[in-house]
Amino acid sequence: MRRAWLLLGLAAAVRAQDAPTSAPEADYGRDVLPILAQHCLSCHGPRQPMGGLNLARFQDEKAAFAKKEVWKEIWRKVDTRQMPPADAESKPTDAEREKLVSWIERTLGSLDGKGAPDPGRVVIRRLNQLEYRNTVRDLVGVEPSVEDFPSDDVGYGFDNIGDVLTLPPLLLEKYVSTAQGVLDRAIVEDVGREPPTRRLEGKDFDGPPETQVKGAQRFLPAGKEIAAKFDVARAGRFLVRVKAGADTVMGAAVKLAVKVDGKEAAELEIKASRTRPAPIEVEIPLKDGVRSVALSWKAVATGGREPRADGKLVVVETVEVIGPVDAPTPKIPESHKRIFVAEPGEKKSPRDAAREVLAAFATRAFRRPASKEQVDRLAKIFESRQKEGETFEAAIRTALLAAMISPSFLFRIEPDRPGDDAKGARPVDEYELASRLSYFLWSSMPDDELFRLAGEGKLTAPATIEAQVRRMLKDPKASAFAESFSSQWLQIRRLEGVSRDKGKFPAFDDDLRLAMHREATMFFEHVMREELSLLTLLDADFTFANEKLARLYGIEGVRGPEMRKVELKDRRRGGVLTMAAVLTCNSNQTRTSPVLRGKWVLETLLGTPPPPPEPDVGEPPEHKDGRKLSMREAMELHRSKPKCMSCHVRMDPIGFGFENYDAIGRWRDADEVGPVDASAALPDGRRFDGPVEFKALMLERKDEFVRTLIEKMLTYALGRGVEFQDASTLRGVHRALEADGYRFSRLVVEIAKSYPFLHRRNKSAGGS
Ligand code: HEC
Ligand code: HEC
Repeated sequence: MRRAWLLLGLAAAVRAQDAPTSAPEADYGRDVLPILAQHCLSCHGPRQPMGGLNLARFQDEKAAFAKKEVWKEIWRKVDTRQMPPADAESKPTDAEREKLVSWIERTLGSLDGKGAPDPGRVVIRRLNQLEYRNTVRDLVGVEPSVEDFPSDDVGYGFDNIGDVLTLPPLLLEKYVSTAQGVLDRAIVEDVGREPPTRRLEGKDFDGPPETQVKGAQRFLPAGKEIAAKFDVARAGRFLVRVKAGADTVMGAAVKLAVKVDGKEAAELEIKASRTRPAPIEVEIPLKDGVRSVALSWKAVATGGREPRADGKLVVVETVEVIGPVDAPTPKIPESHKRIFVAEPGEKKSPRDAAREVLAAFATRAFRRPASKEQVDRLAKIFESRQKEGETFEAAIRTALLAAMISPSFLFRIEPDRPGDDAKGARPVDEYELASRLSYFLWSSMPDDELFRLAGEGKLTAPATIEAQVRRMLKDPKASAFAESFSSQWLQIRRLEGVSRDKGKFPAFDDDLRLAMHREATMFFEHVMREELSLLTLLDADFTFANEKLARLYGIEGVRGPEMRKVELKDRRRGGVLTMAAVLTCNSNQTRTSPVLRGKWVLETLLGTPPPPPEPDVGEPPEHKDGRKLSMREAMELHRSKPKCMSCHVRMDPIGFGFENYDAIGRWRDADEVGPVDASAALPDGRRFDGPVEFKALMLERKDEFVRTLIEKMLTYALGRGVEFQDASTLRGVHRALEADGYRFSRLVVEIAKSYPFLHRRNKSAGGS
């Protein structure tokens, strides 16, 4: 048992280091040039090069190094078998293709041109809207509203890409006001620990000269008065506790009058002797504001006779005003307790307590132990606010606000270290890994367990990474990943802005739109949570629907607005290709768009997007010779020129296969013109008829699908575009998936253990 476990750990450790290794040296002149000459130069020679690409200029390795951007394209086109095109006369063998591709990866894709692995550059990146919301929620315990935040820019199809996440001034303002609002809700300013006590000694009172001071004590002769001012923050009933003693007058106890703003409010009978003062209490109401509280002799209980009090004394040692004692103690929310990990008390000064609170908060907010300087800065803010009279809690709140608008909070920073080799790469540290994992799978900050493991230096062990990824995927917070990744990968966020012709598609309303979106993300989340095969995404015998969506799909027996899992008996639904959200997003206001549907498949599922469109091609014609054309006929006619075909031959046939779905994804056997023809041929000659056969074709091409999905998820996980230095990672993850039945969790685990996920390139290191 133990042995097996050890072996597993070891295998994982080896795989985690599955970085590009140096290979038998391929030589540009000897190995690469001949392949280009034989299979490419006929179209990419110096005269009229196709696609504007002249490969004749790369006579040696140096020339190639100088144009890495171009080679990135060459790598992609050759590796995904887009080049040479299907109709080229001479095509490289698999071995030649492999040689060309691996030369590019090993030479251009390495840090030093000699095979040193390159984890790629991850720039400092701002938390995107979702990450900001979730991070604030987990940090403070209050969910902020980010609805009016400016929207995040998208790069490589995702909104968490460092290169494109800028910080517009409007957003900075939003950060300030949002943090303020959140902290106001999270923190109770006047915590009812004990009602506040204000304590004065006898000497602190004002009084005439006869009221002598002796030590802390005050002598109060008959007919005299001492008074002091008390600042009452909240009105209510207050306990006045006077520690006093008195001589008796003719055997009777002296009574003191307690006056508030000159008016008698209560009386106190002093039973203790002058030499042994003791506390006596009375409750009085006080209004808020500055109140004058005074003490004087009232009378002596001598049974009506005039008291002879000459020379007799009351000794006042201390006076405490405690309260309000009747105000309801404010309910302390969880968020408050979480922040105030220390409180000032008898053994702890406010300053020390504040430092503890600030250090704990900053460590969580900055996602790594806060430095002394960082805590100093916040403590200074706290101290200056307290000097200005703010309560402990209010002064802390101001310091926390500063933490929440600091770059260390708003940005994910993996700084270059002084010790880092300027030209190299280094493993990410424990805390960097905790954040990489948590933002990948939760779109939020690390939780206590991740912090703890990082603190103990245990997180970066491959077996721990795998265990943590599995734990994290089971956590409800992983829904953020399912939602965010799937809606961006499938490009269905656009659904929100989609409108449909009301006359033609009366069924399309906001409820249906929402149901479509939820279907796609719930389906993806189900595959994730149930550990299903990734191929389920291409074809499945279940989906999620409510009554409205089920009606669109022609499924009986689903009632009510809530989404639920439904069985599919018919292969015309099931999997992402035939989901209403996808079909609708890739249609127009009034009609379907085979072009967009085809483009979506190339981009999203096959990873071979077409080049950007020609400008001003015009709308496809609606009629010919007085007859209305089907969408397919119109498109076929419109782009029949060879110039148009070079691109459209790849997109349109795929789209024709989906003409049985109208512009909101409803099945139809006939369109406005006649029966739908959904048969088509791909550029490589393979034929299919309709969506069911196309899905079967896609399952045959599962390698391309899986590779594309790995690439998309790696992009999302790393927050940068995938490049040729990642090729061996893509392949390593692919192999691991094959061996594990394409199980969803395997994909996530392998990405989390991959070389680029666990390393970072130093700023000054080369590479693209
Ligand atoms: C039969 C002609 C032909 C052959 C042979 C050919 N290509 Fe192409 N190539 C094209 C055409 C046409 C385009 C532009 C349309 C497109 O991008 O699909 C193109 C575009 C490209 C592009 C994209 C250029 C850009 O920046 O948009 C790359 C890279 C490329 N080819 C590389 C190669 C390589 C490498 C080979 C040899 C292994 C090769 N091609 C062989 C016709 C050819
Ligand atoms: C370099 C590749 C390329 C070439 C060449 C090209 N197109 Fe396109 N075309 C595209 C792409 C990509 C789209 C999808 C645009 C989008 O994403 O909105 C498109 C979209 C269209 C559309 C819109 C489809 C719809 O459903 O609204 C029409 C019409 C069209 N192209 C016609 C033509 C015609 C006509 C030609 C030749 C004159 C041509 N195209 C040449 C790439 C190309």
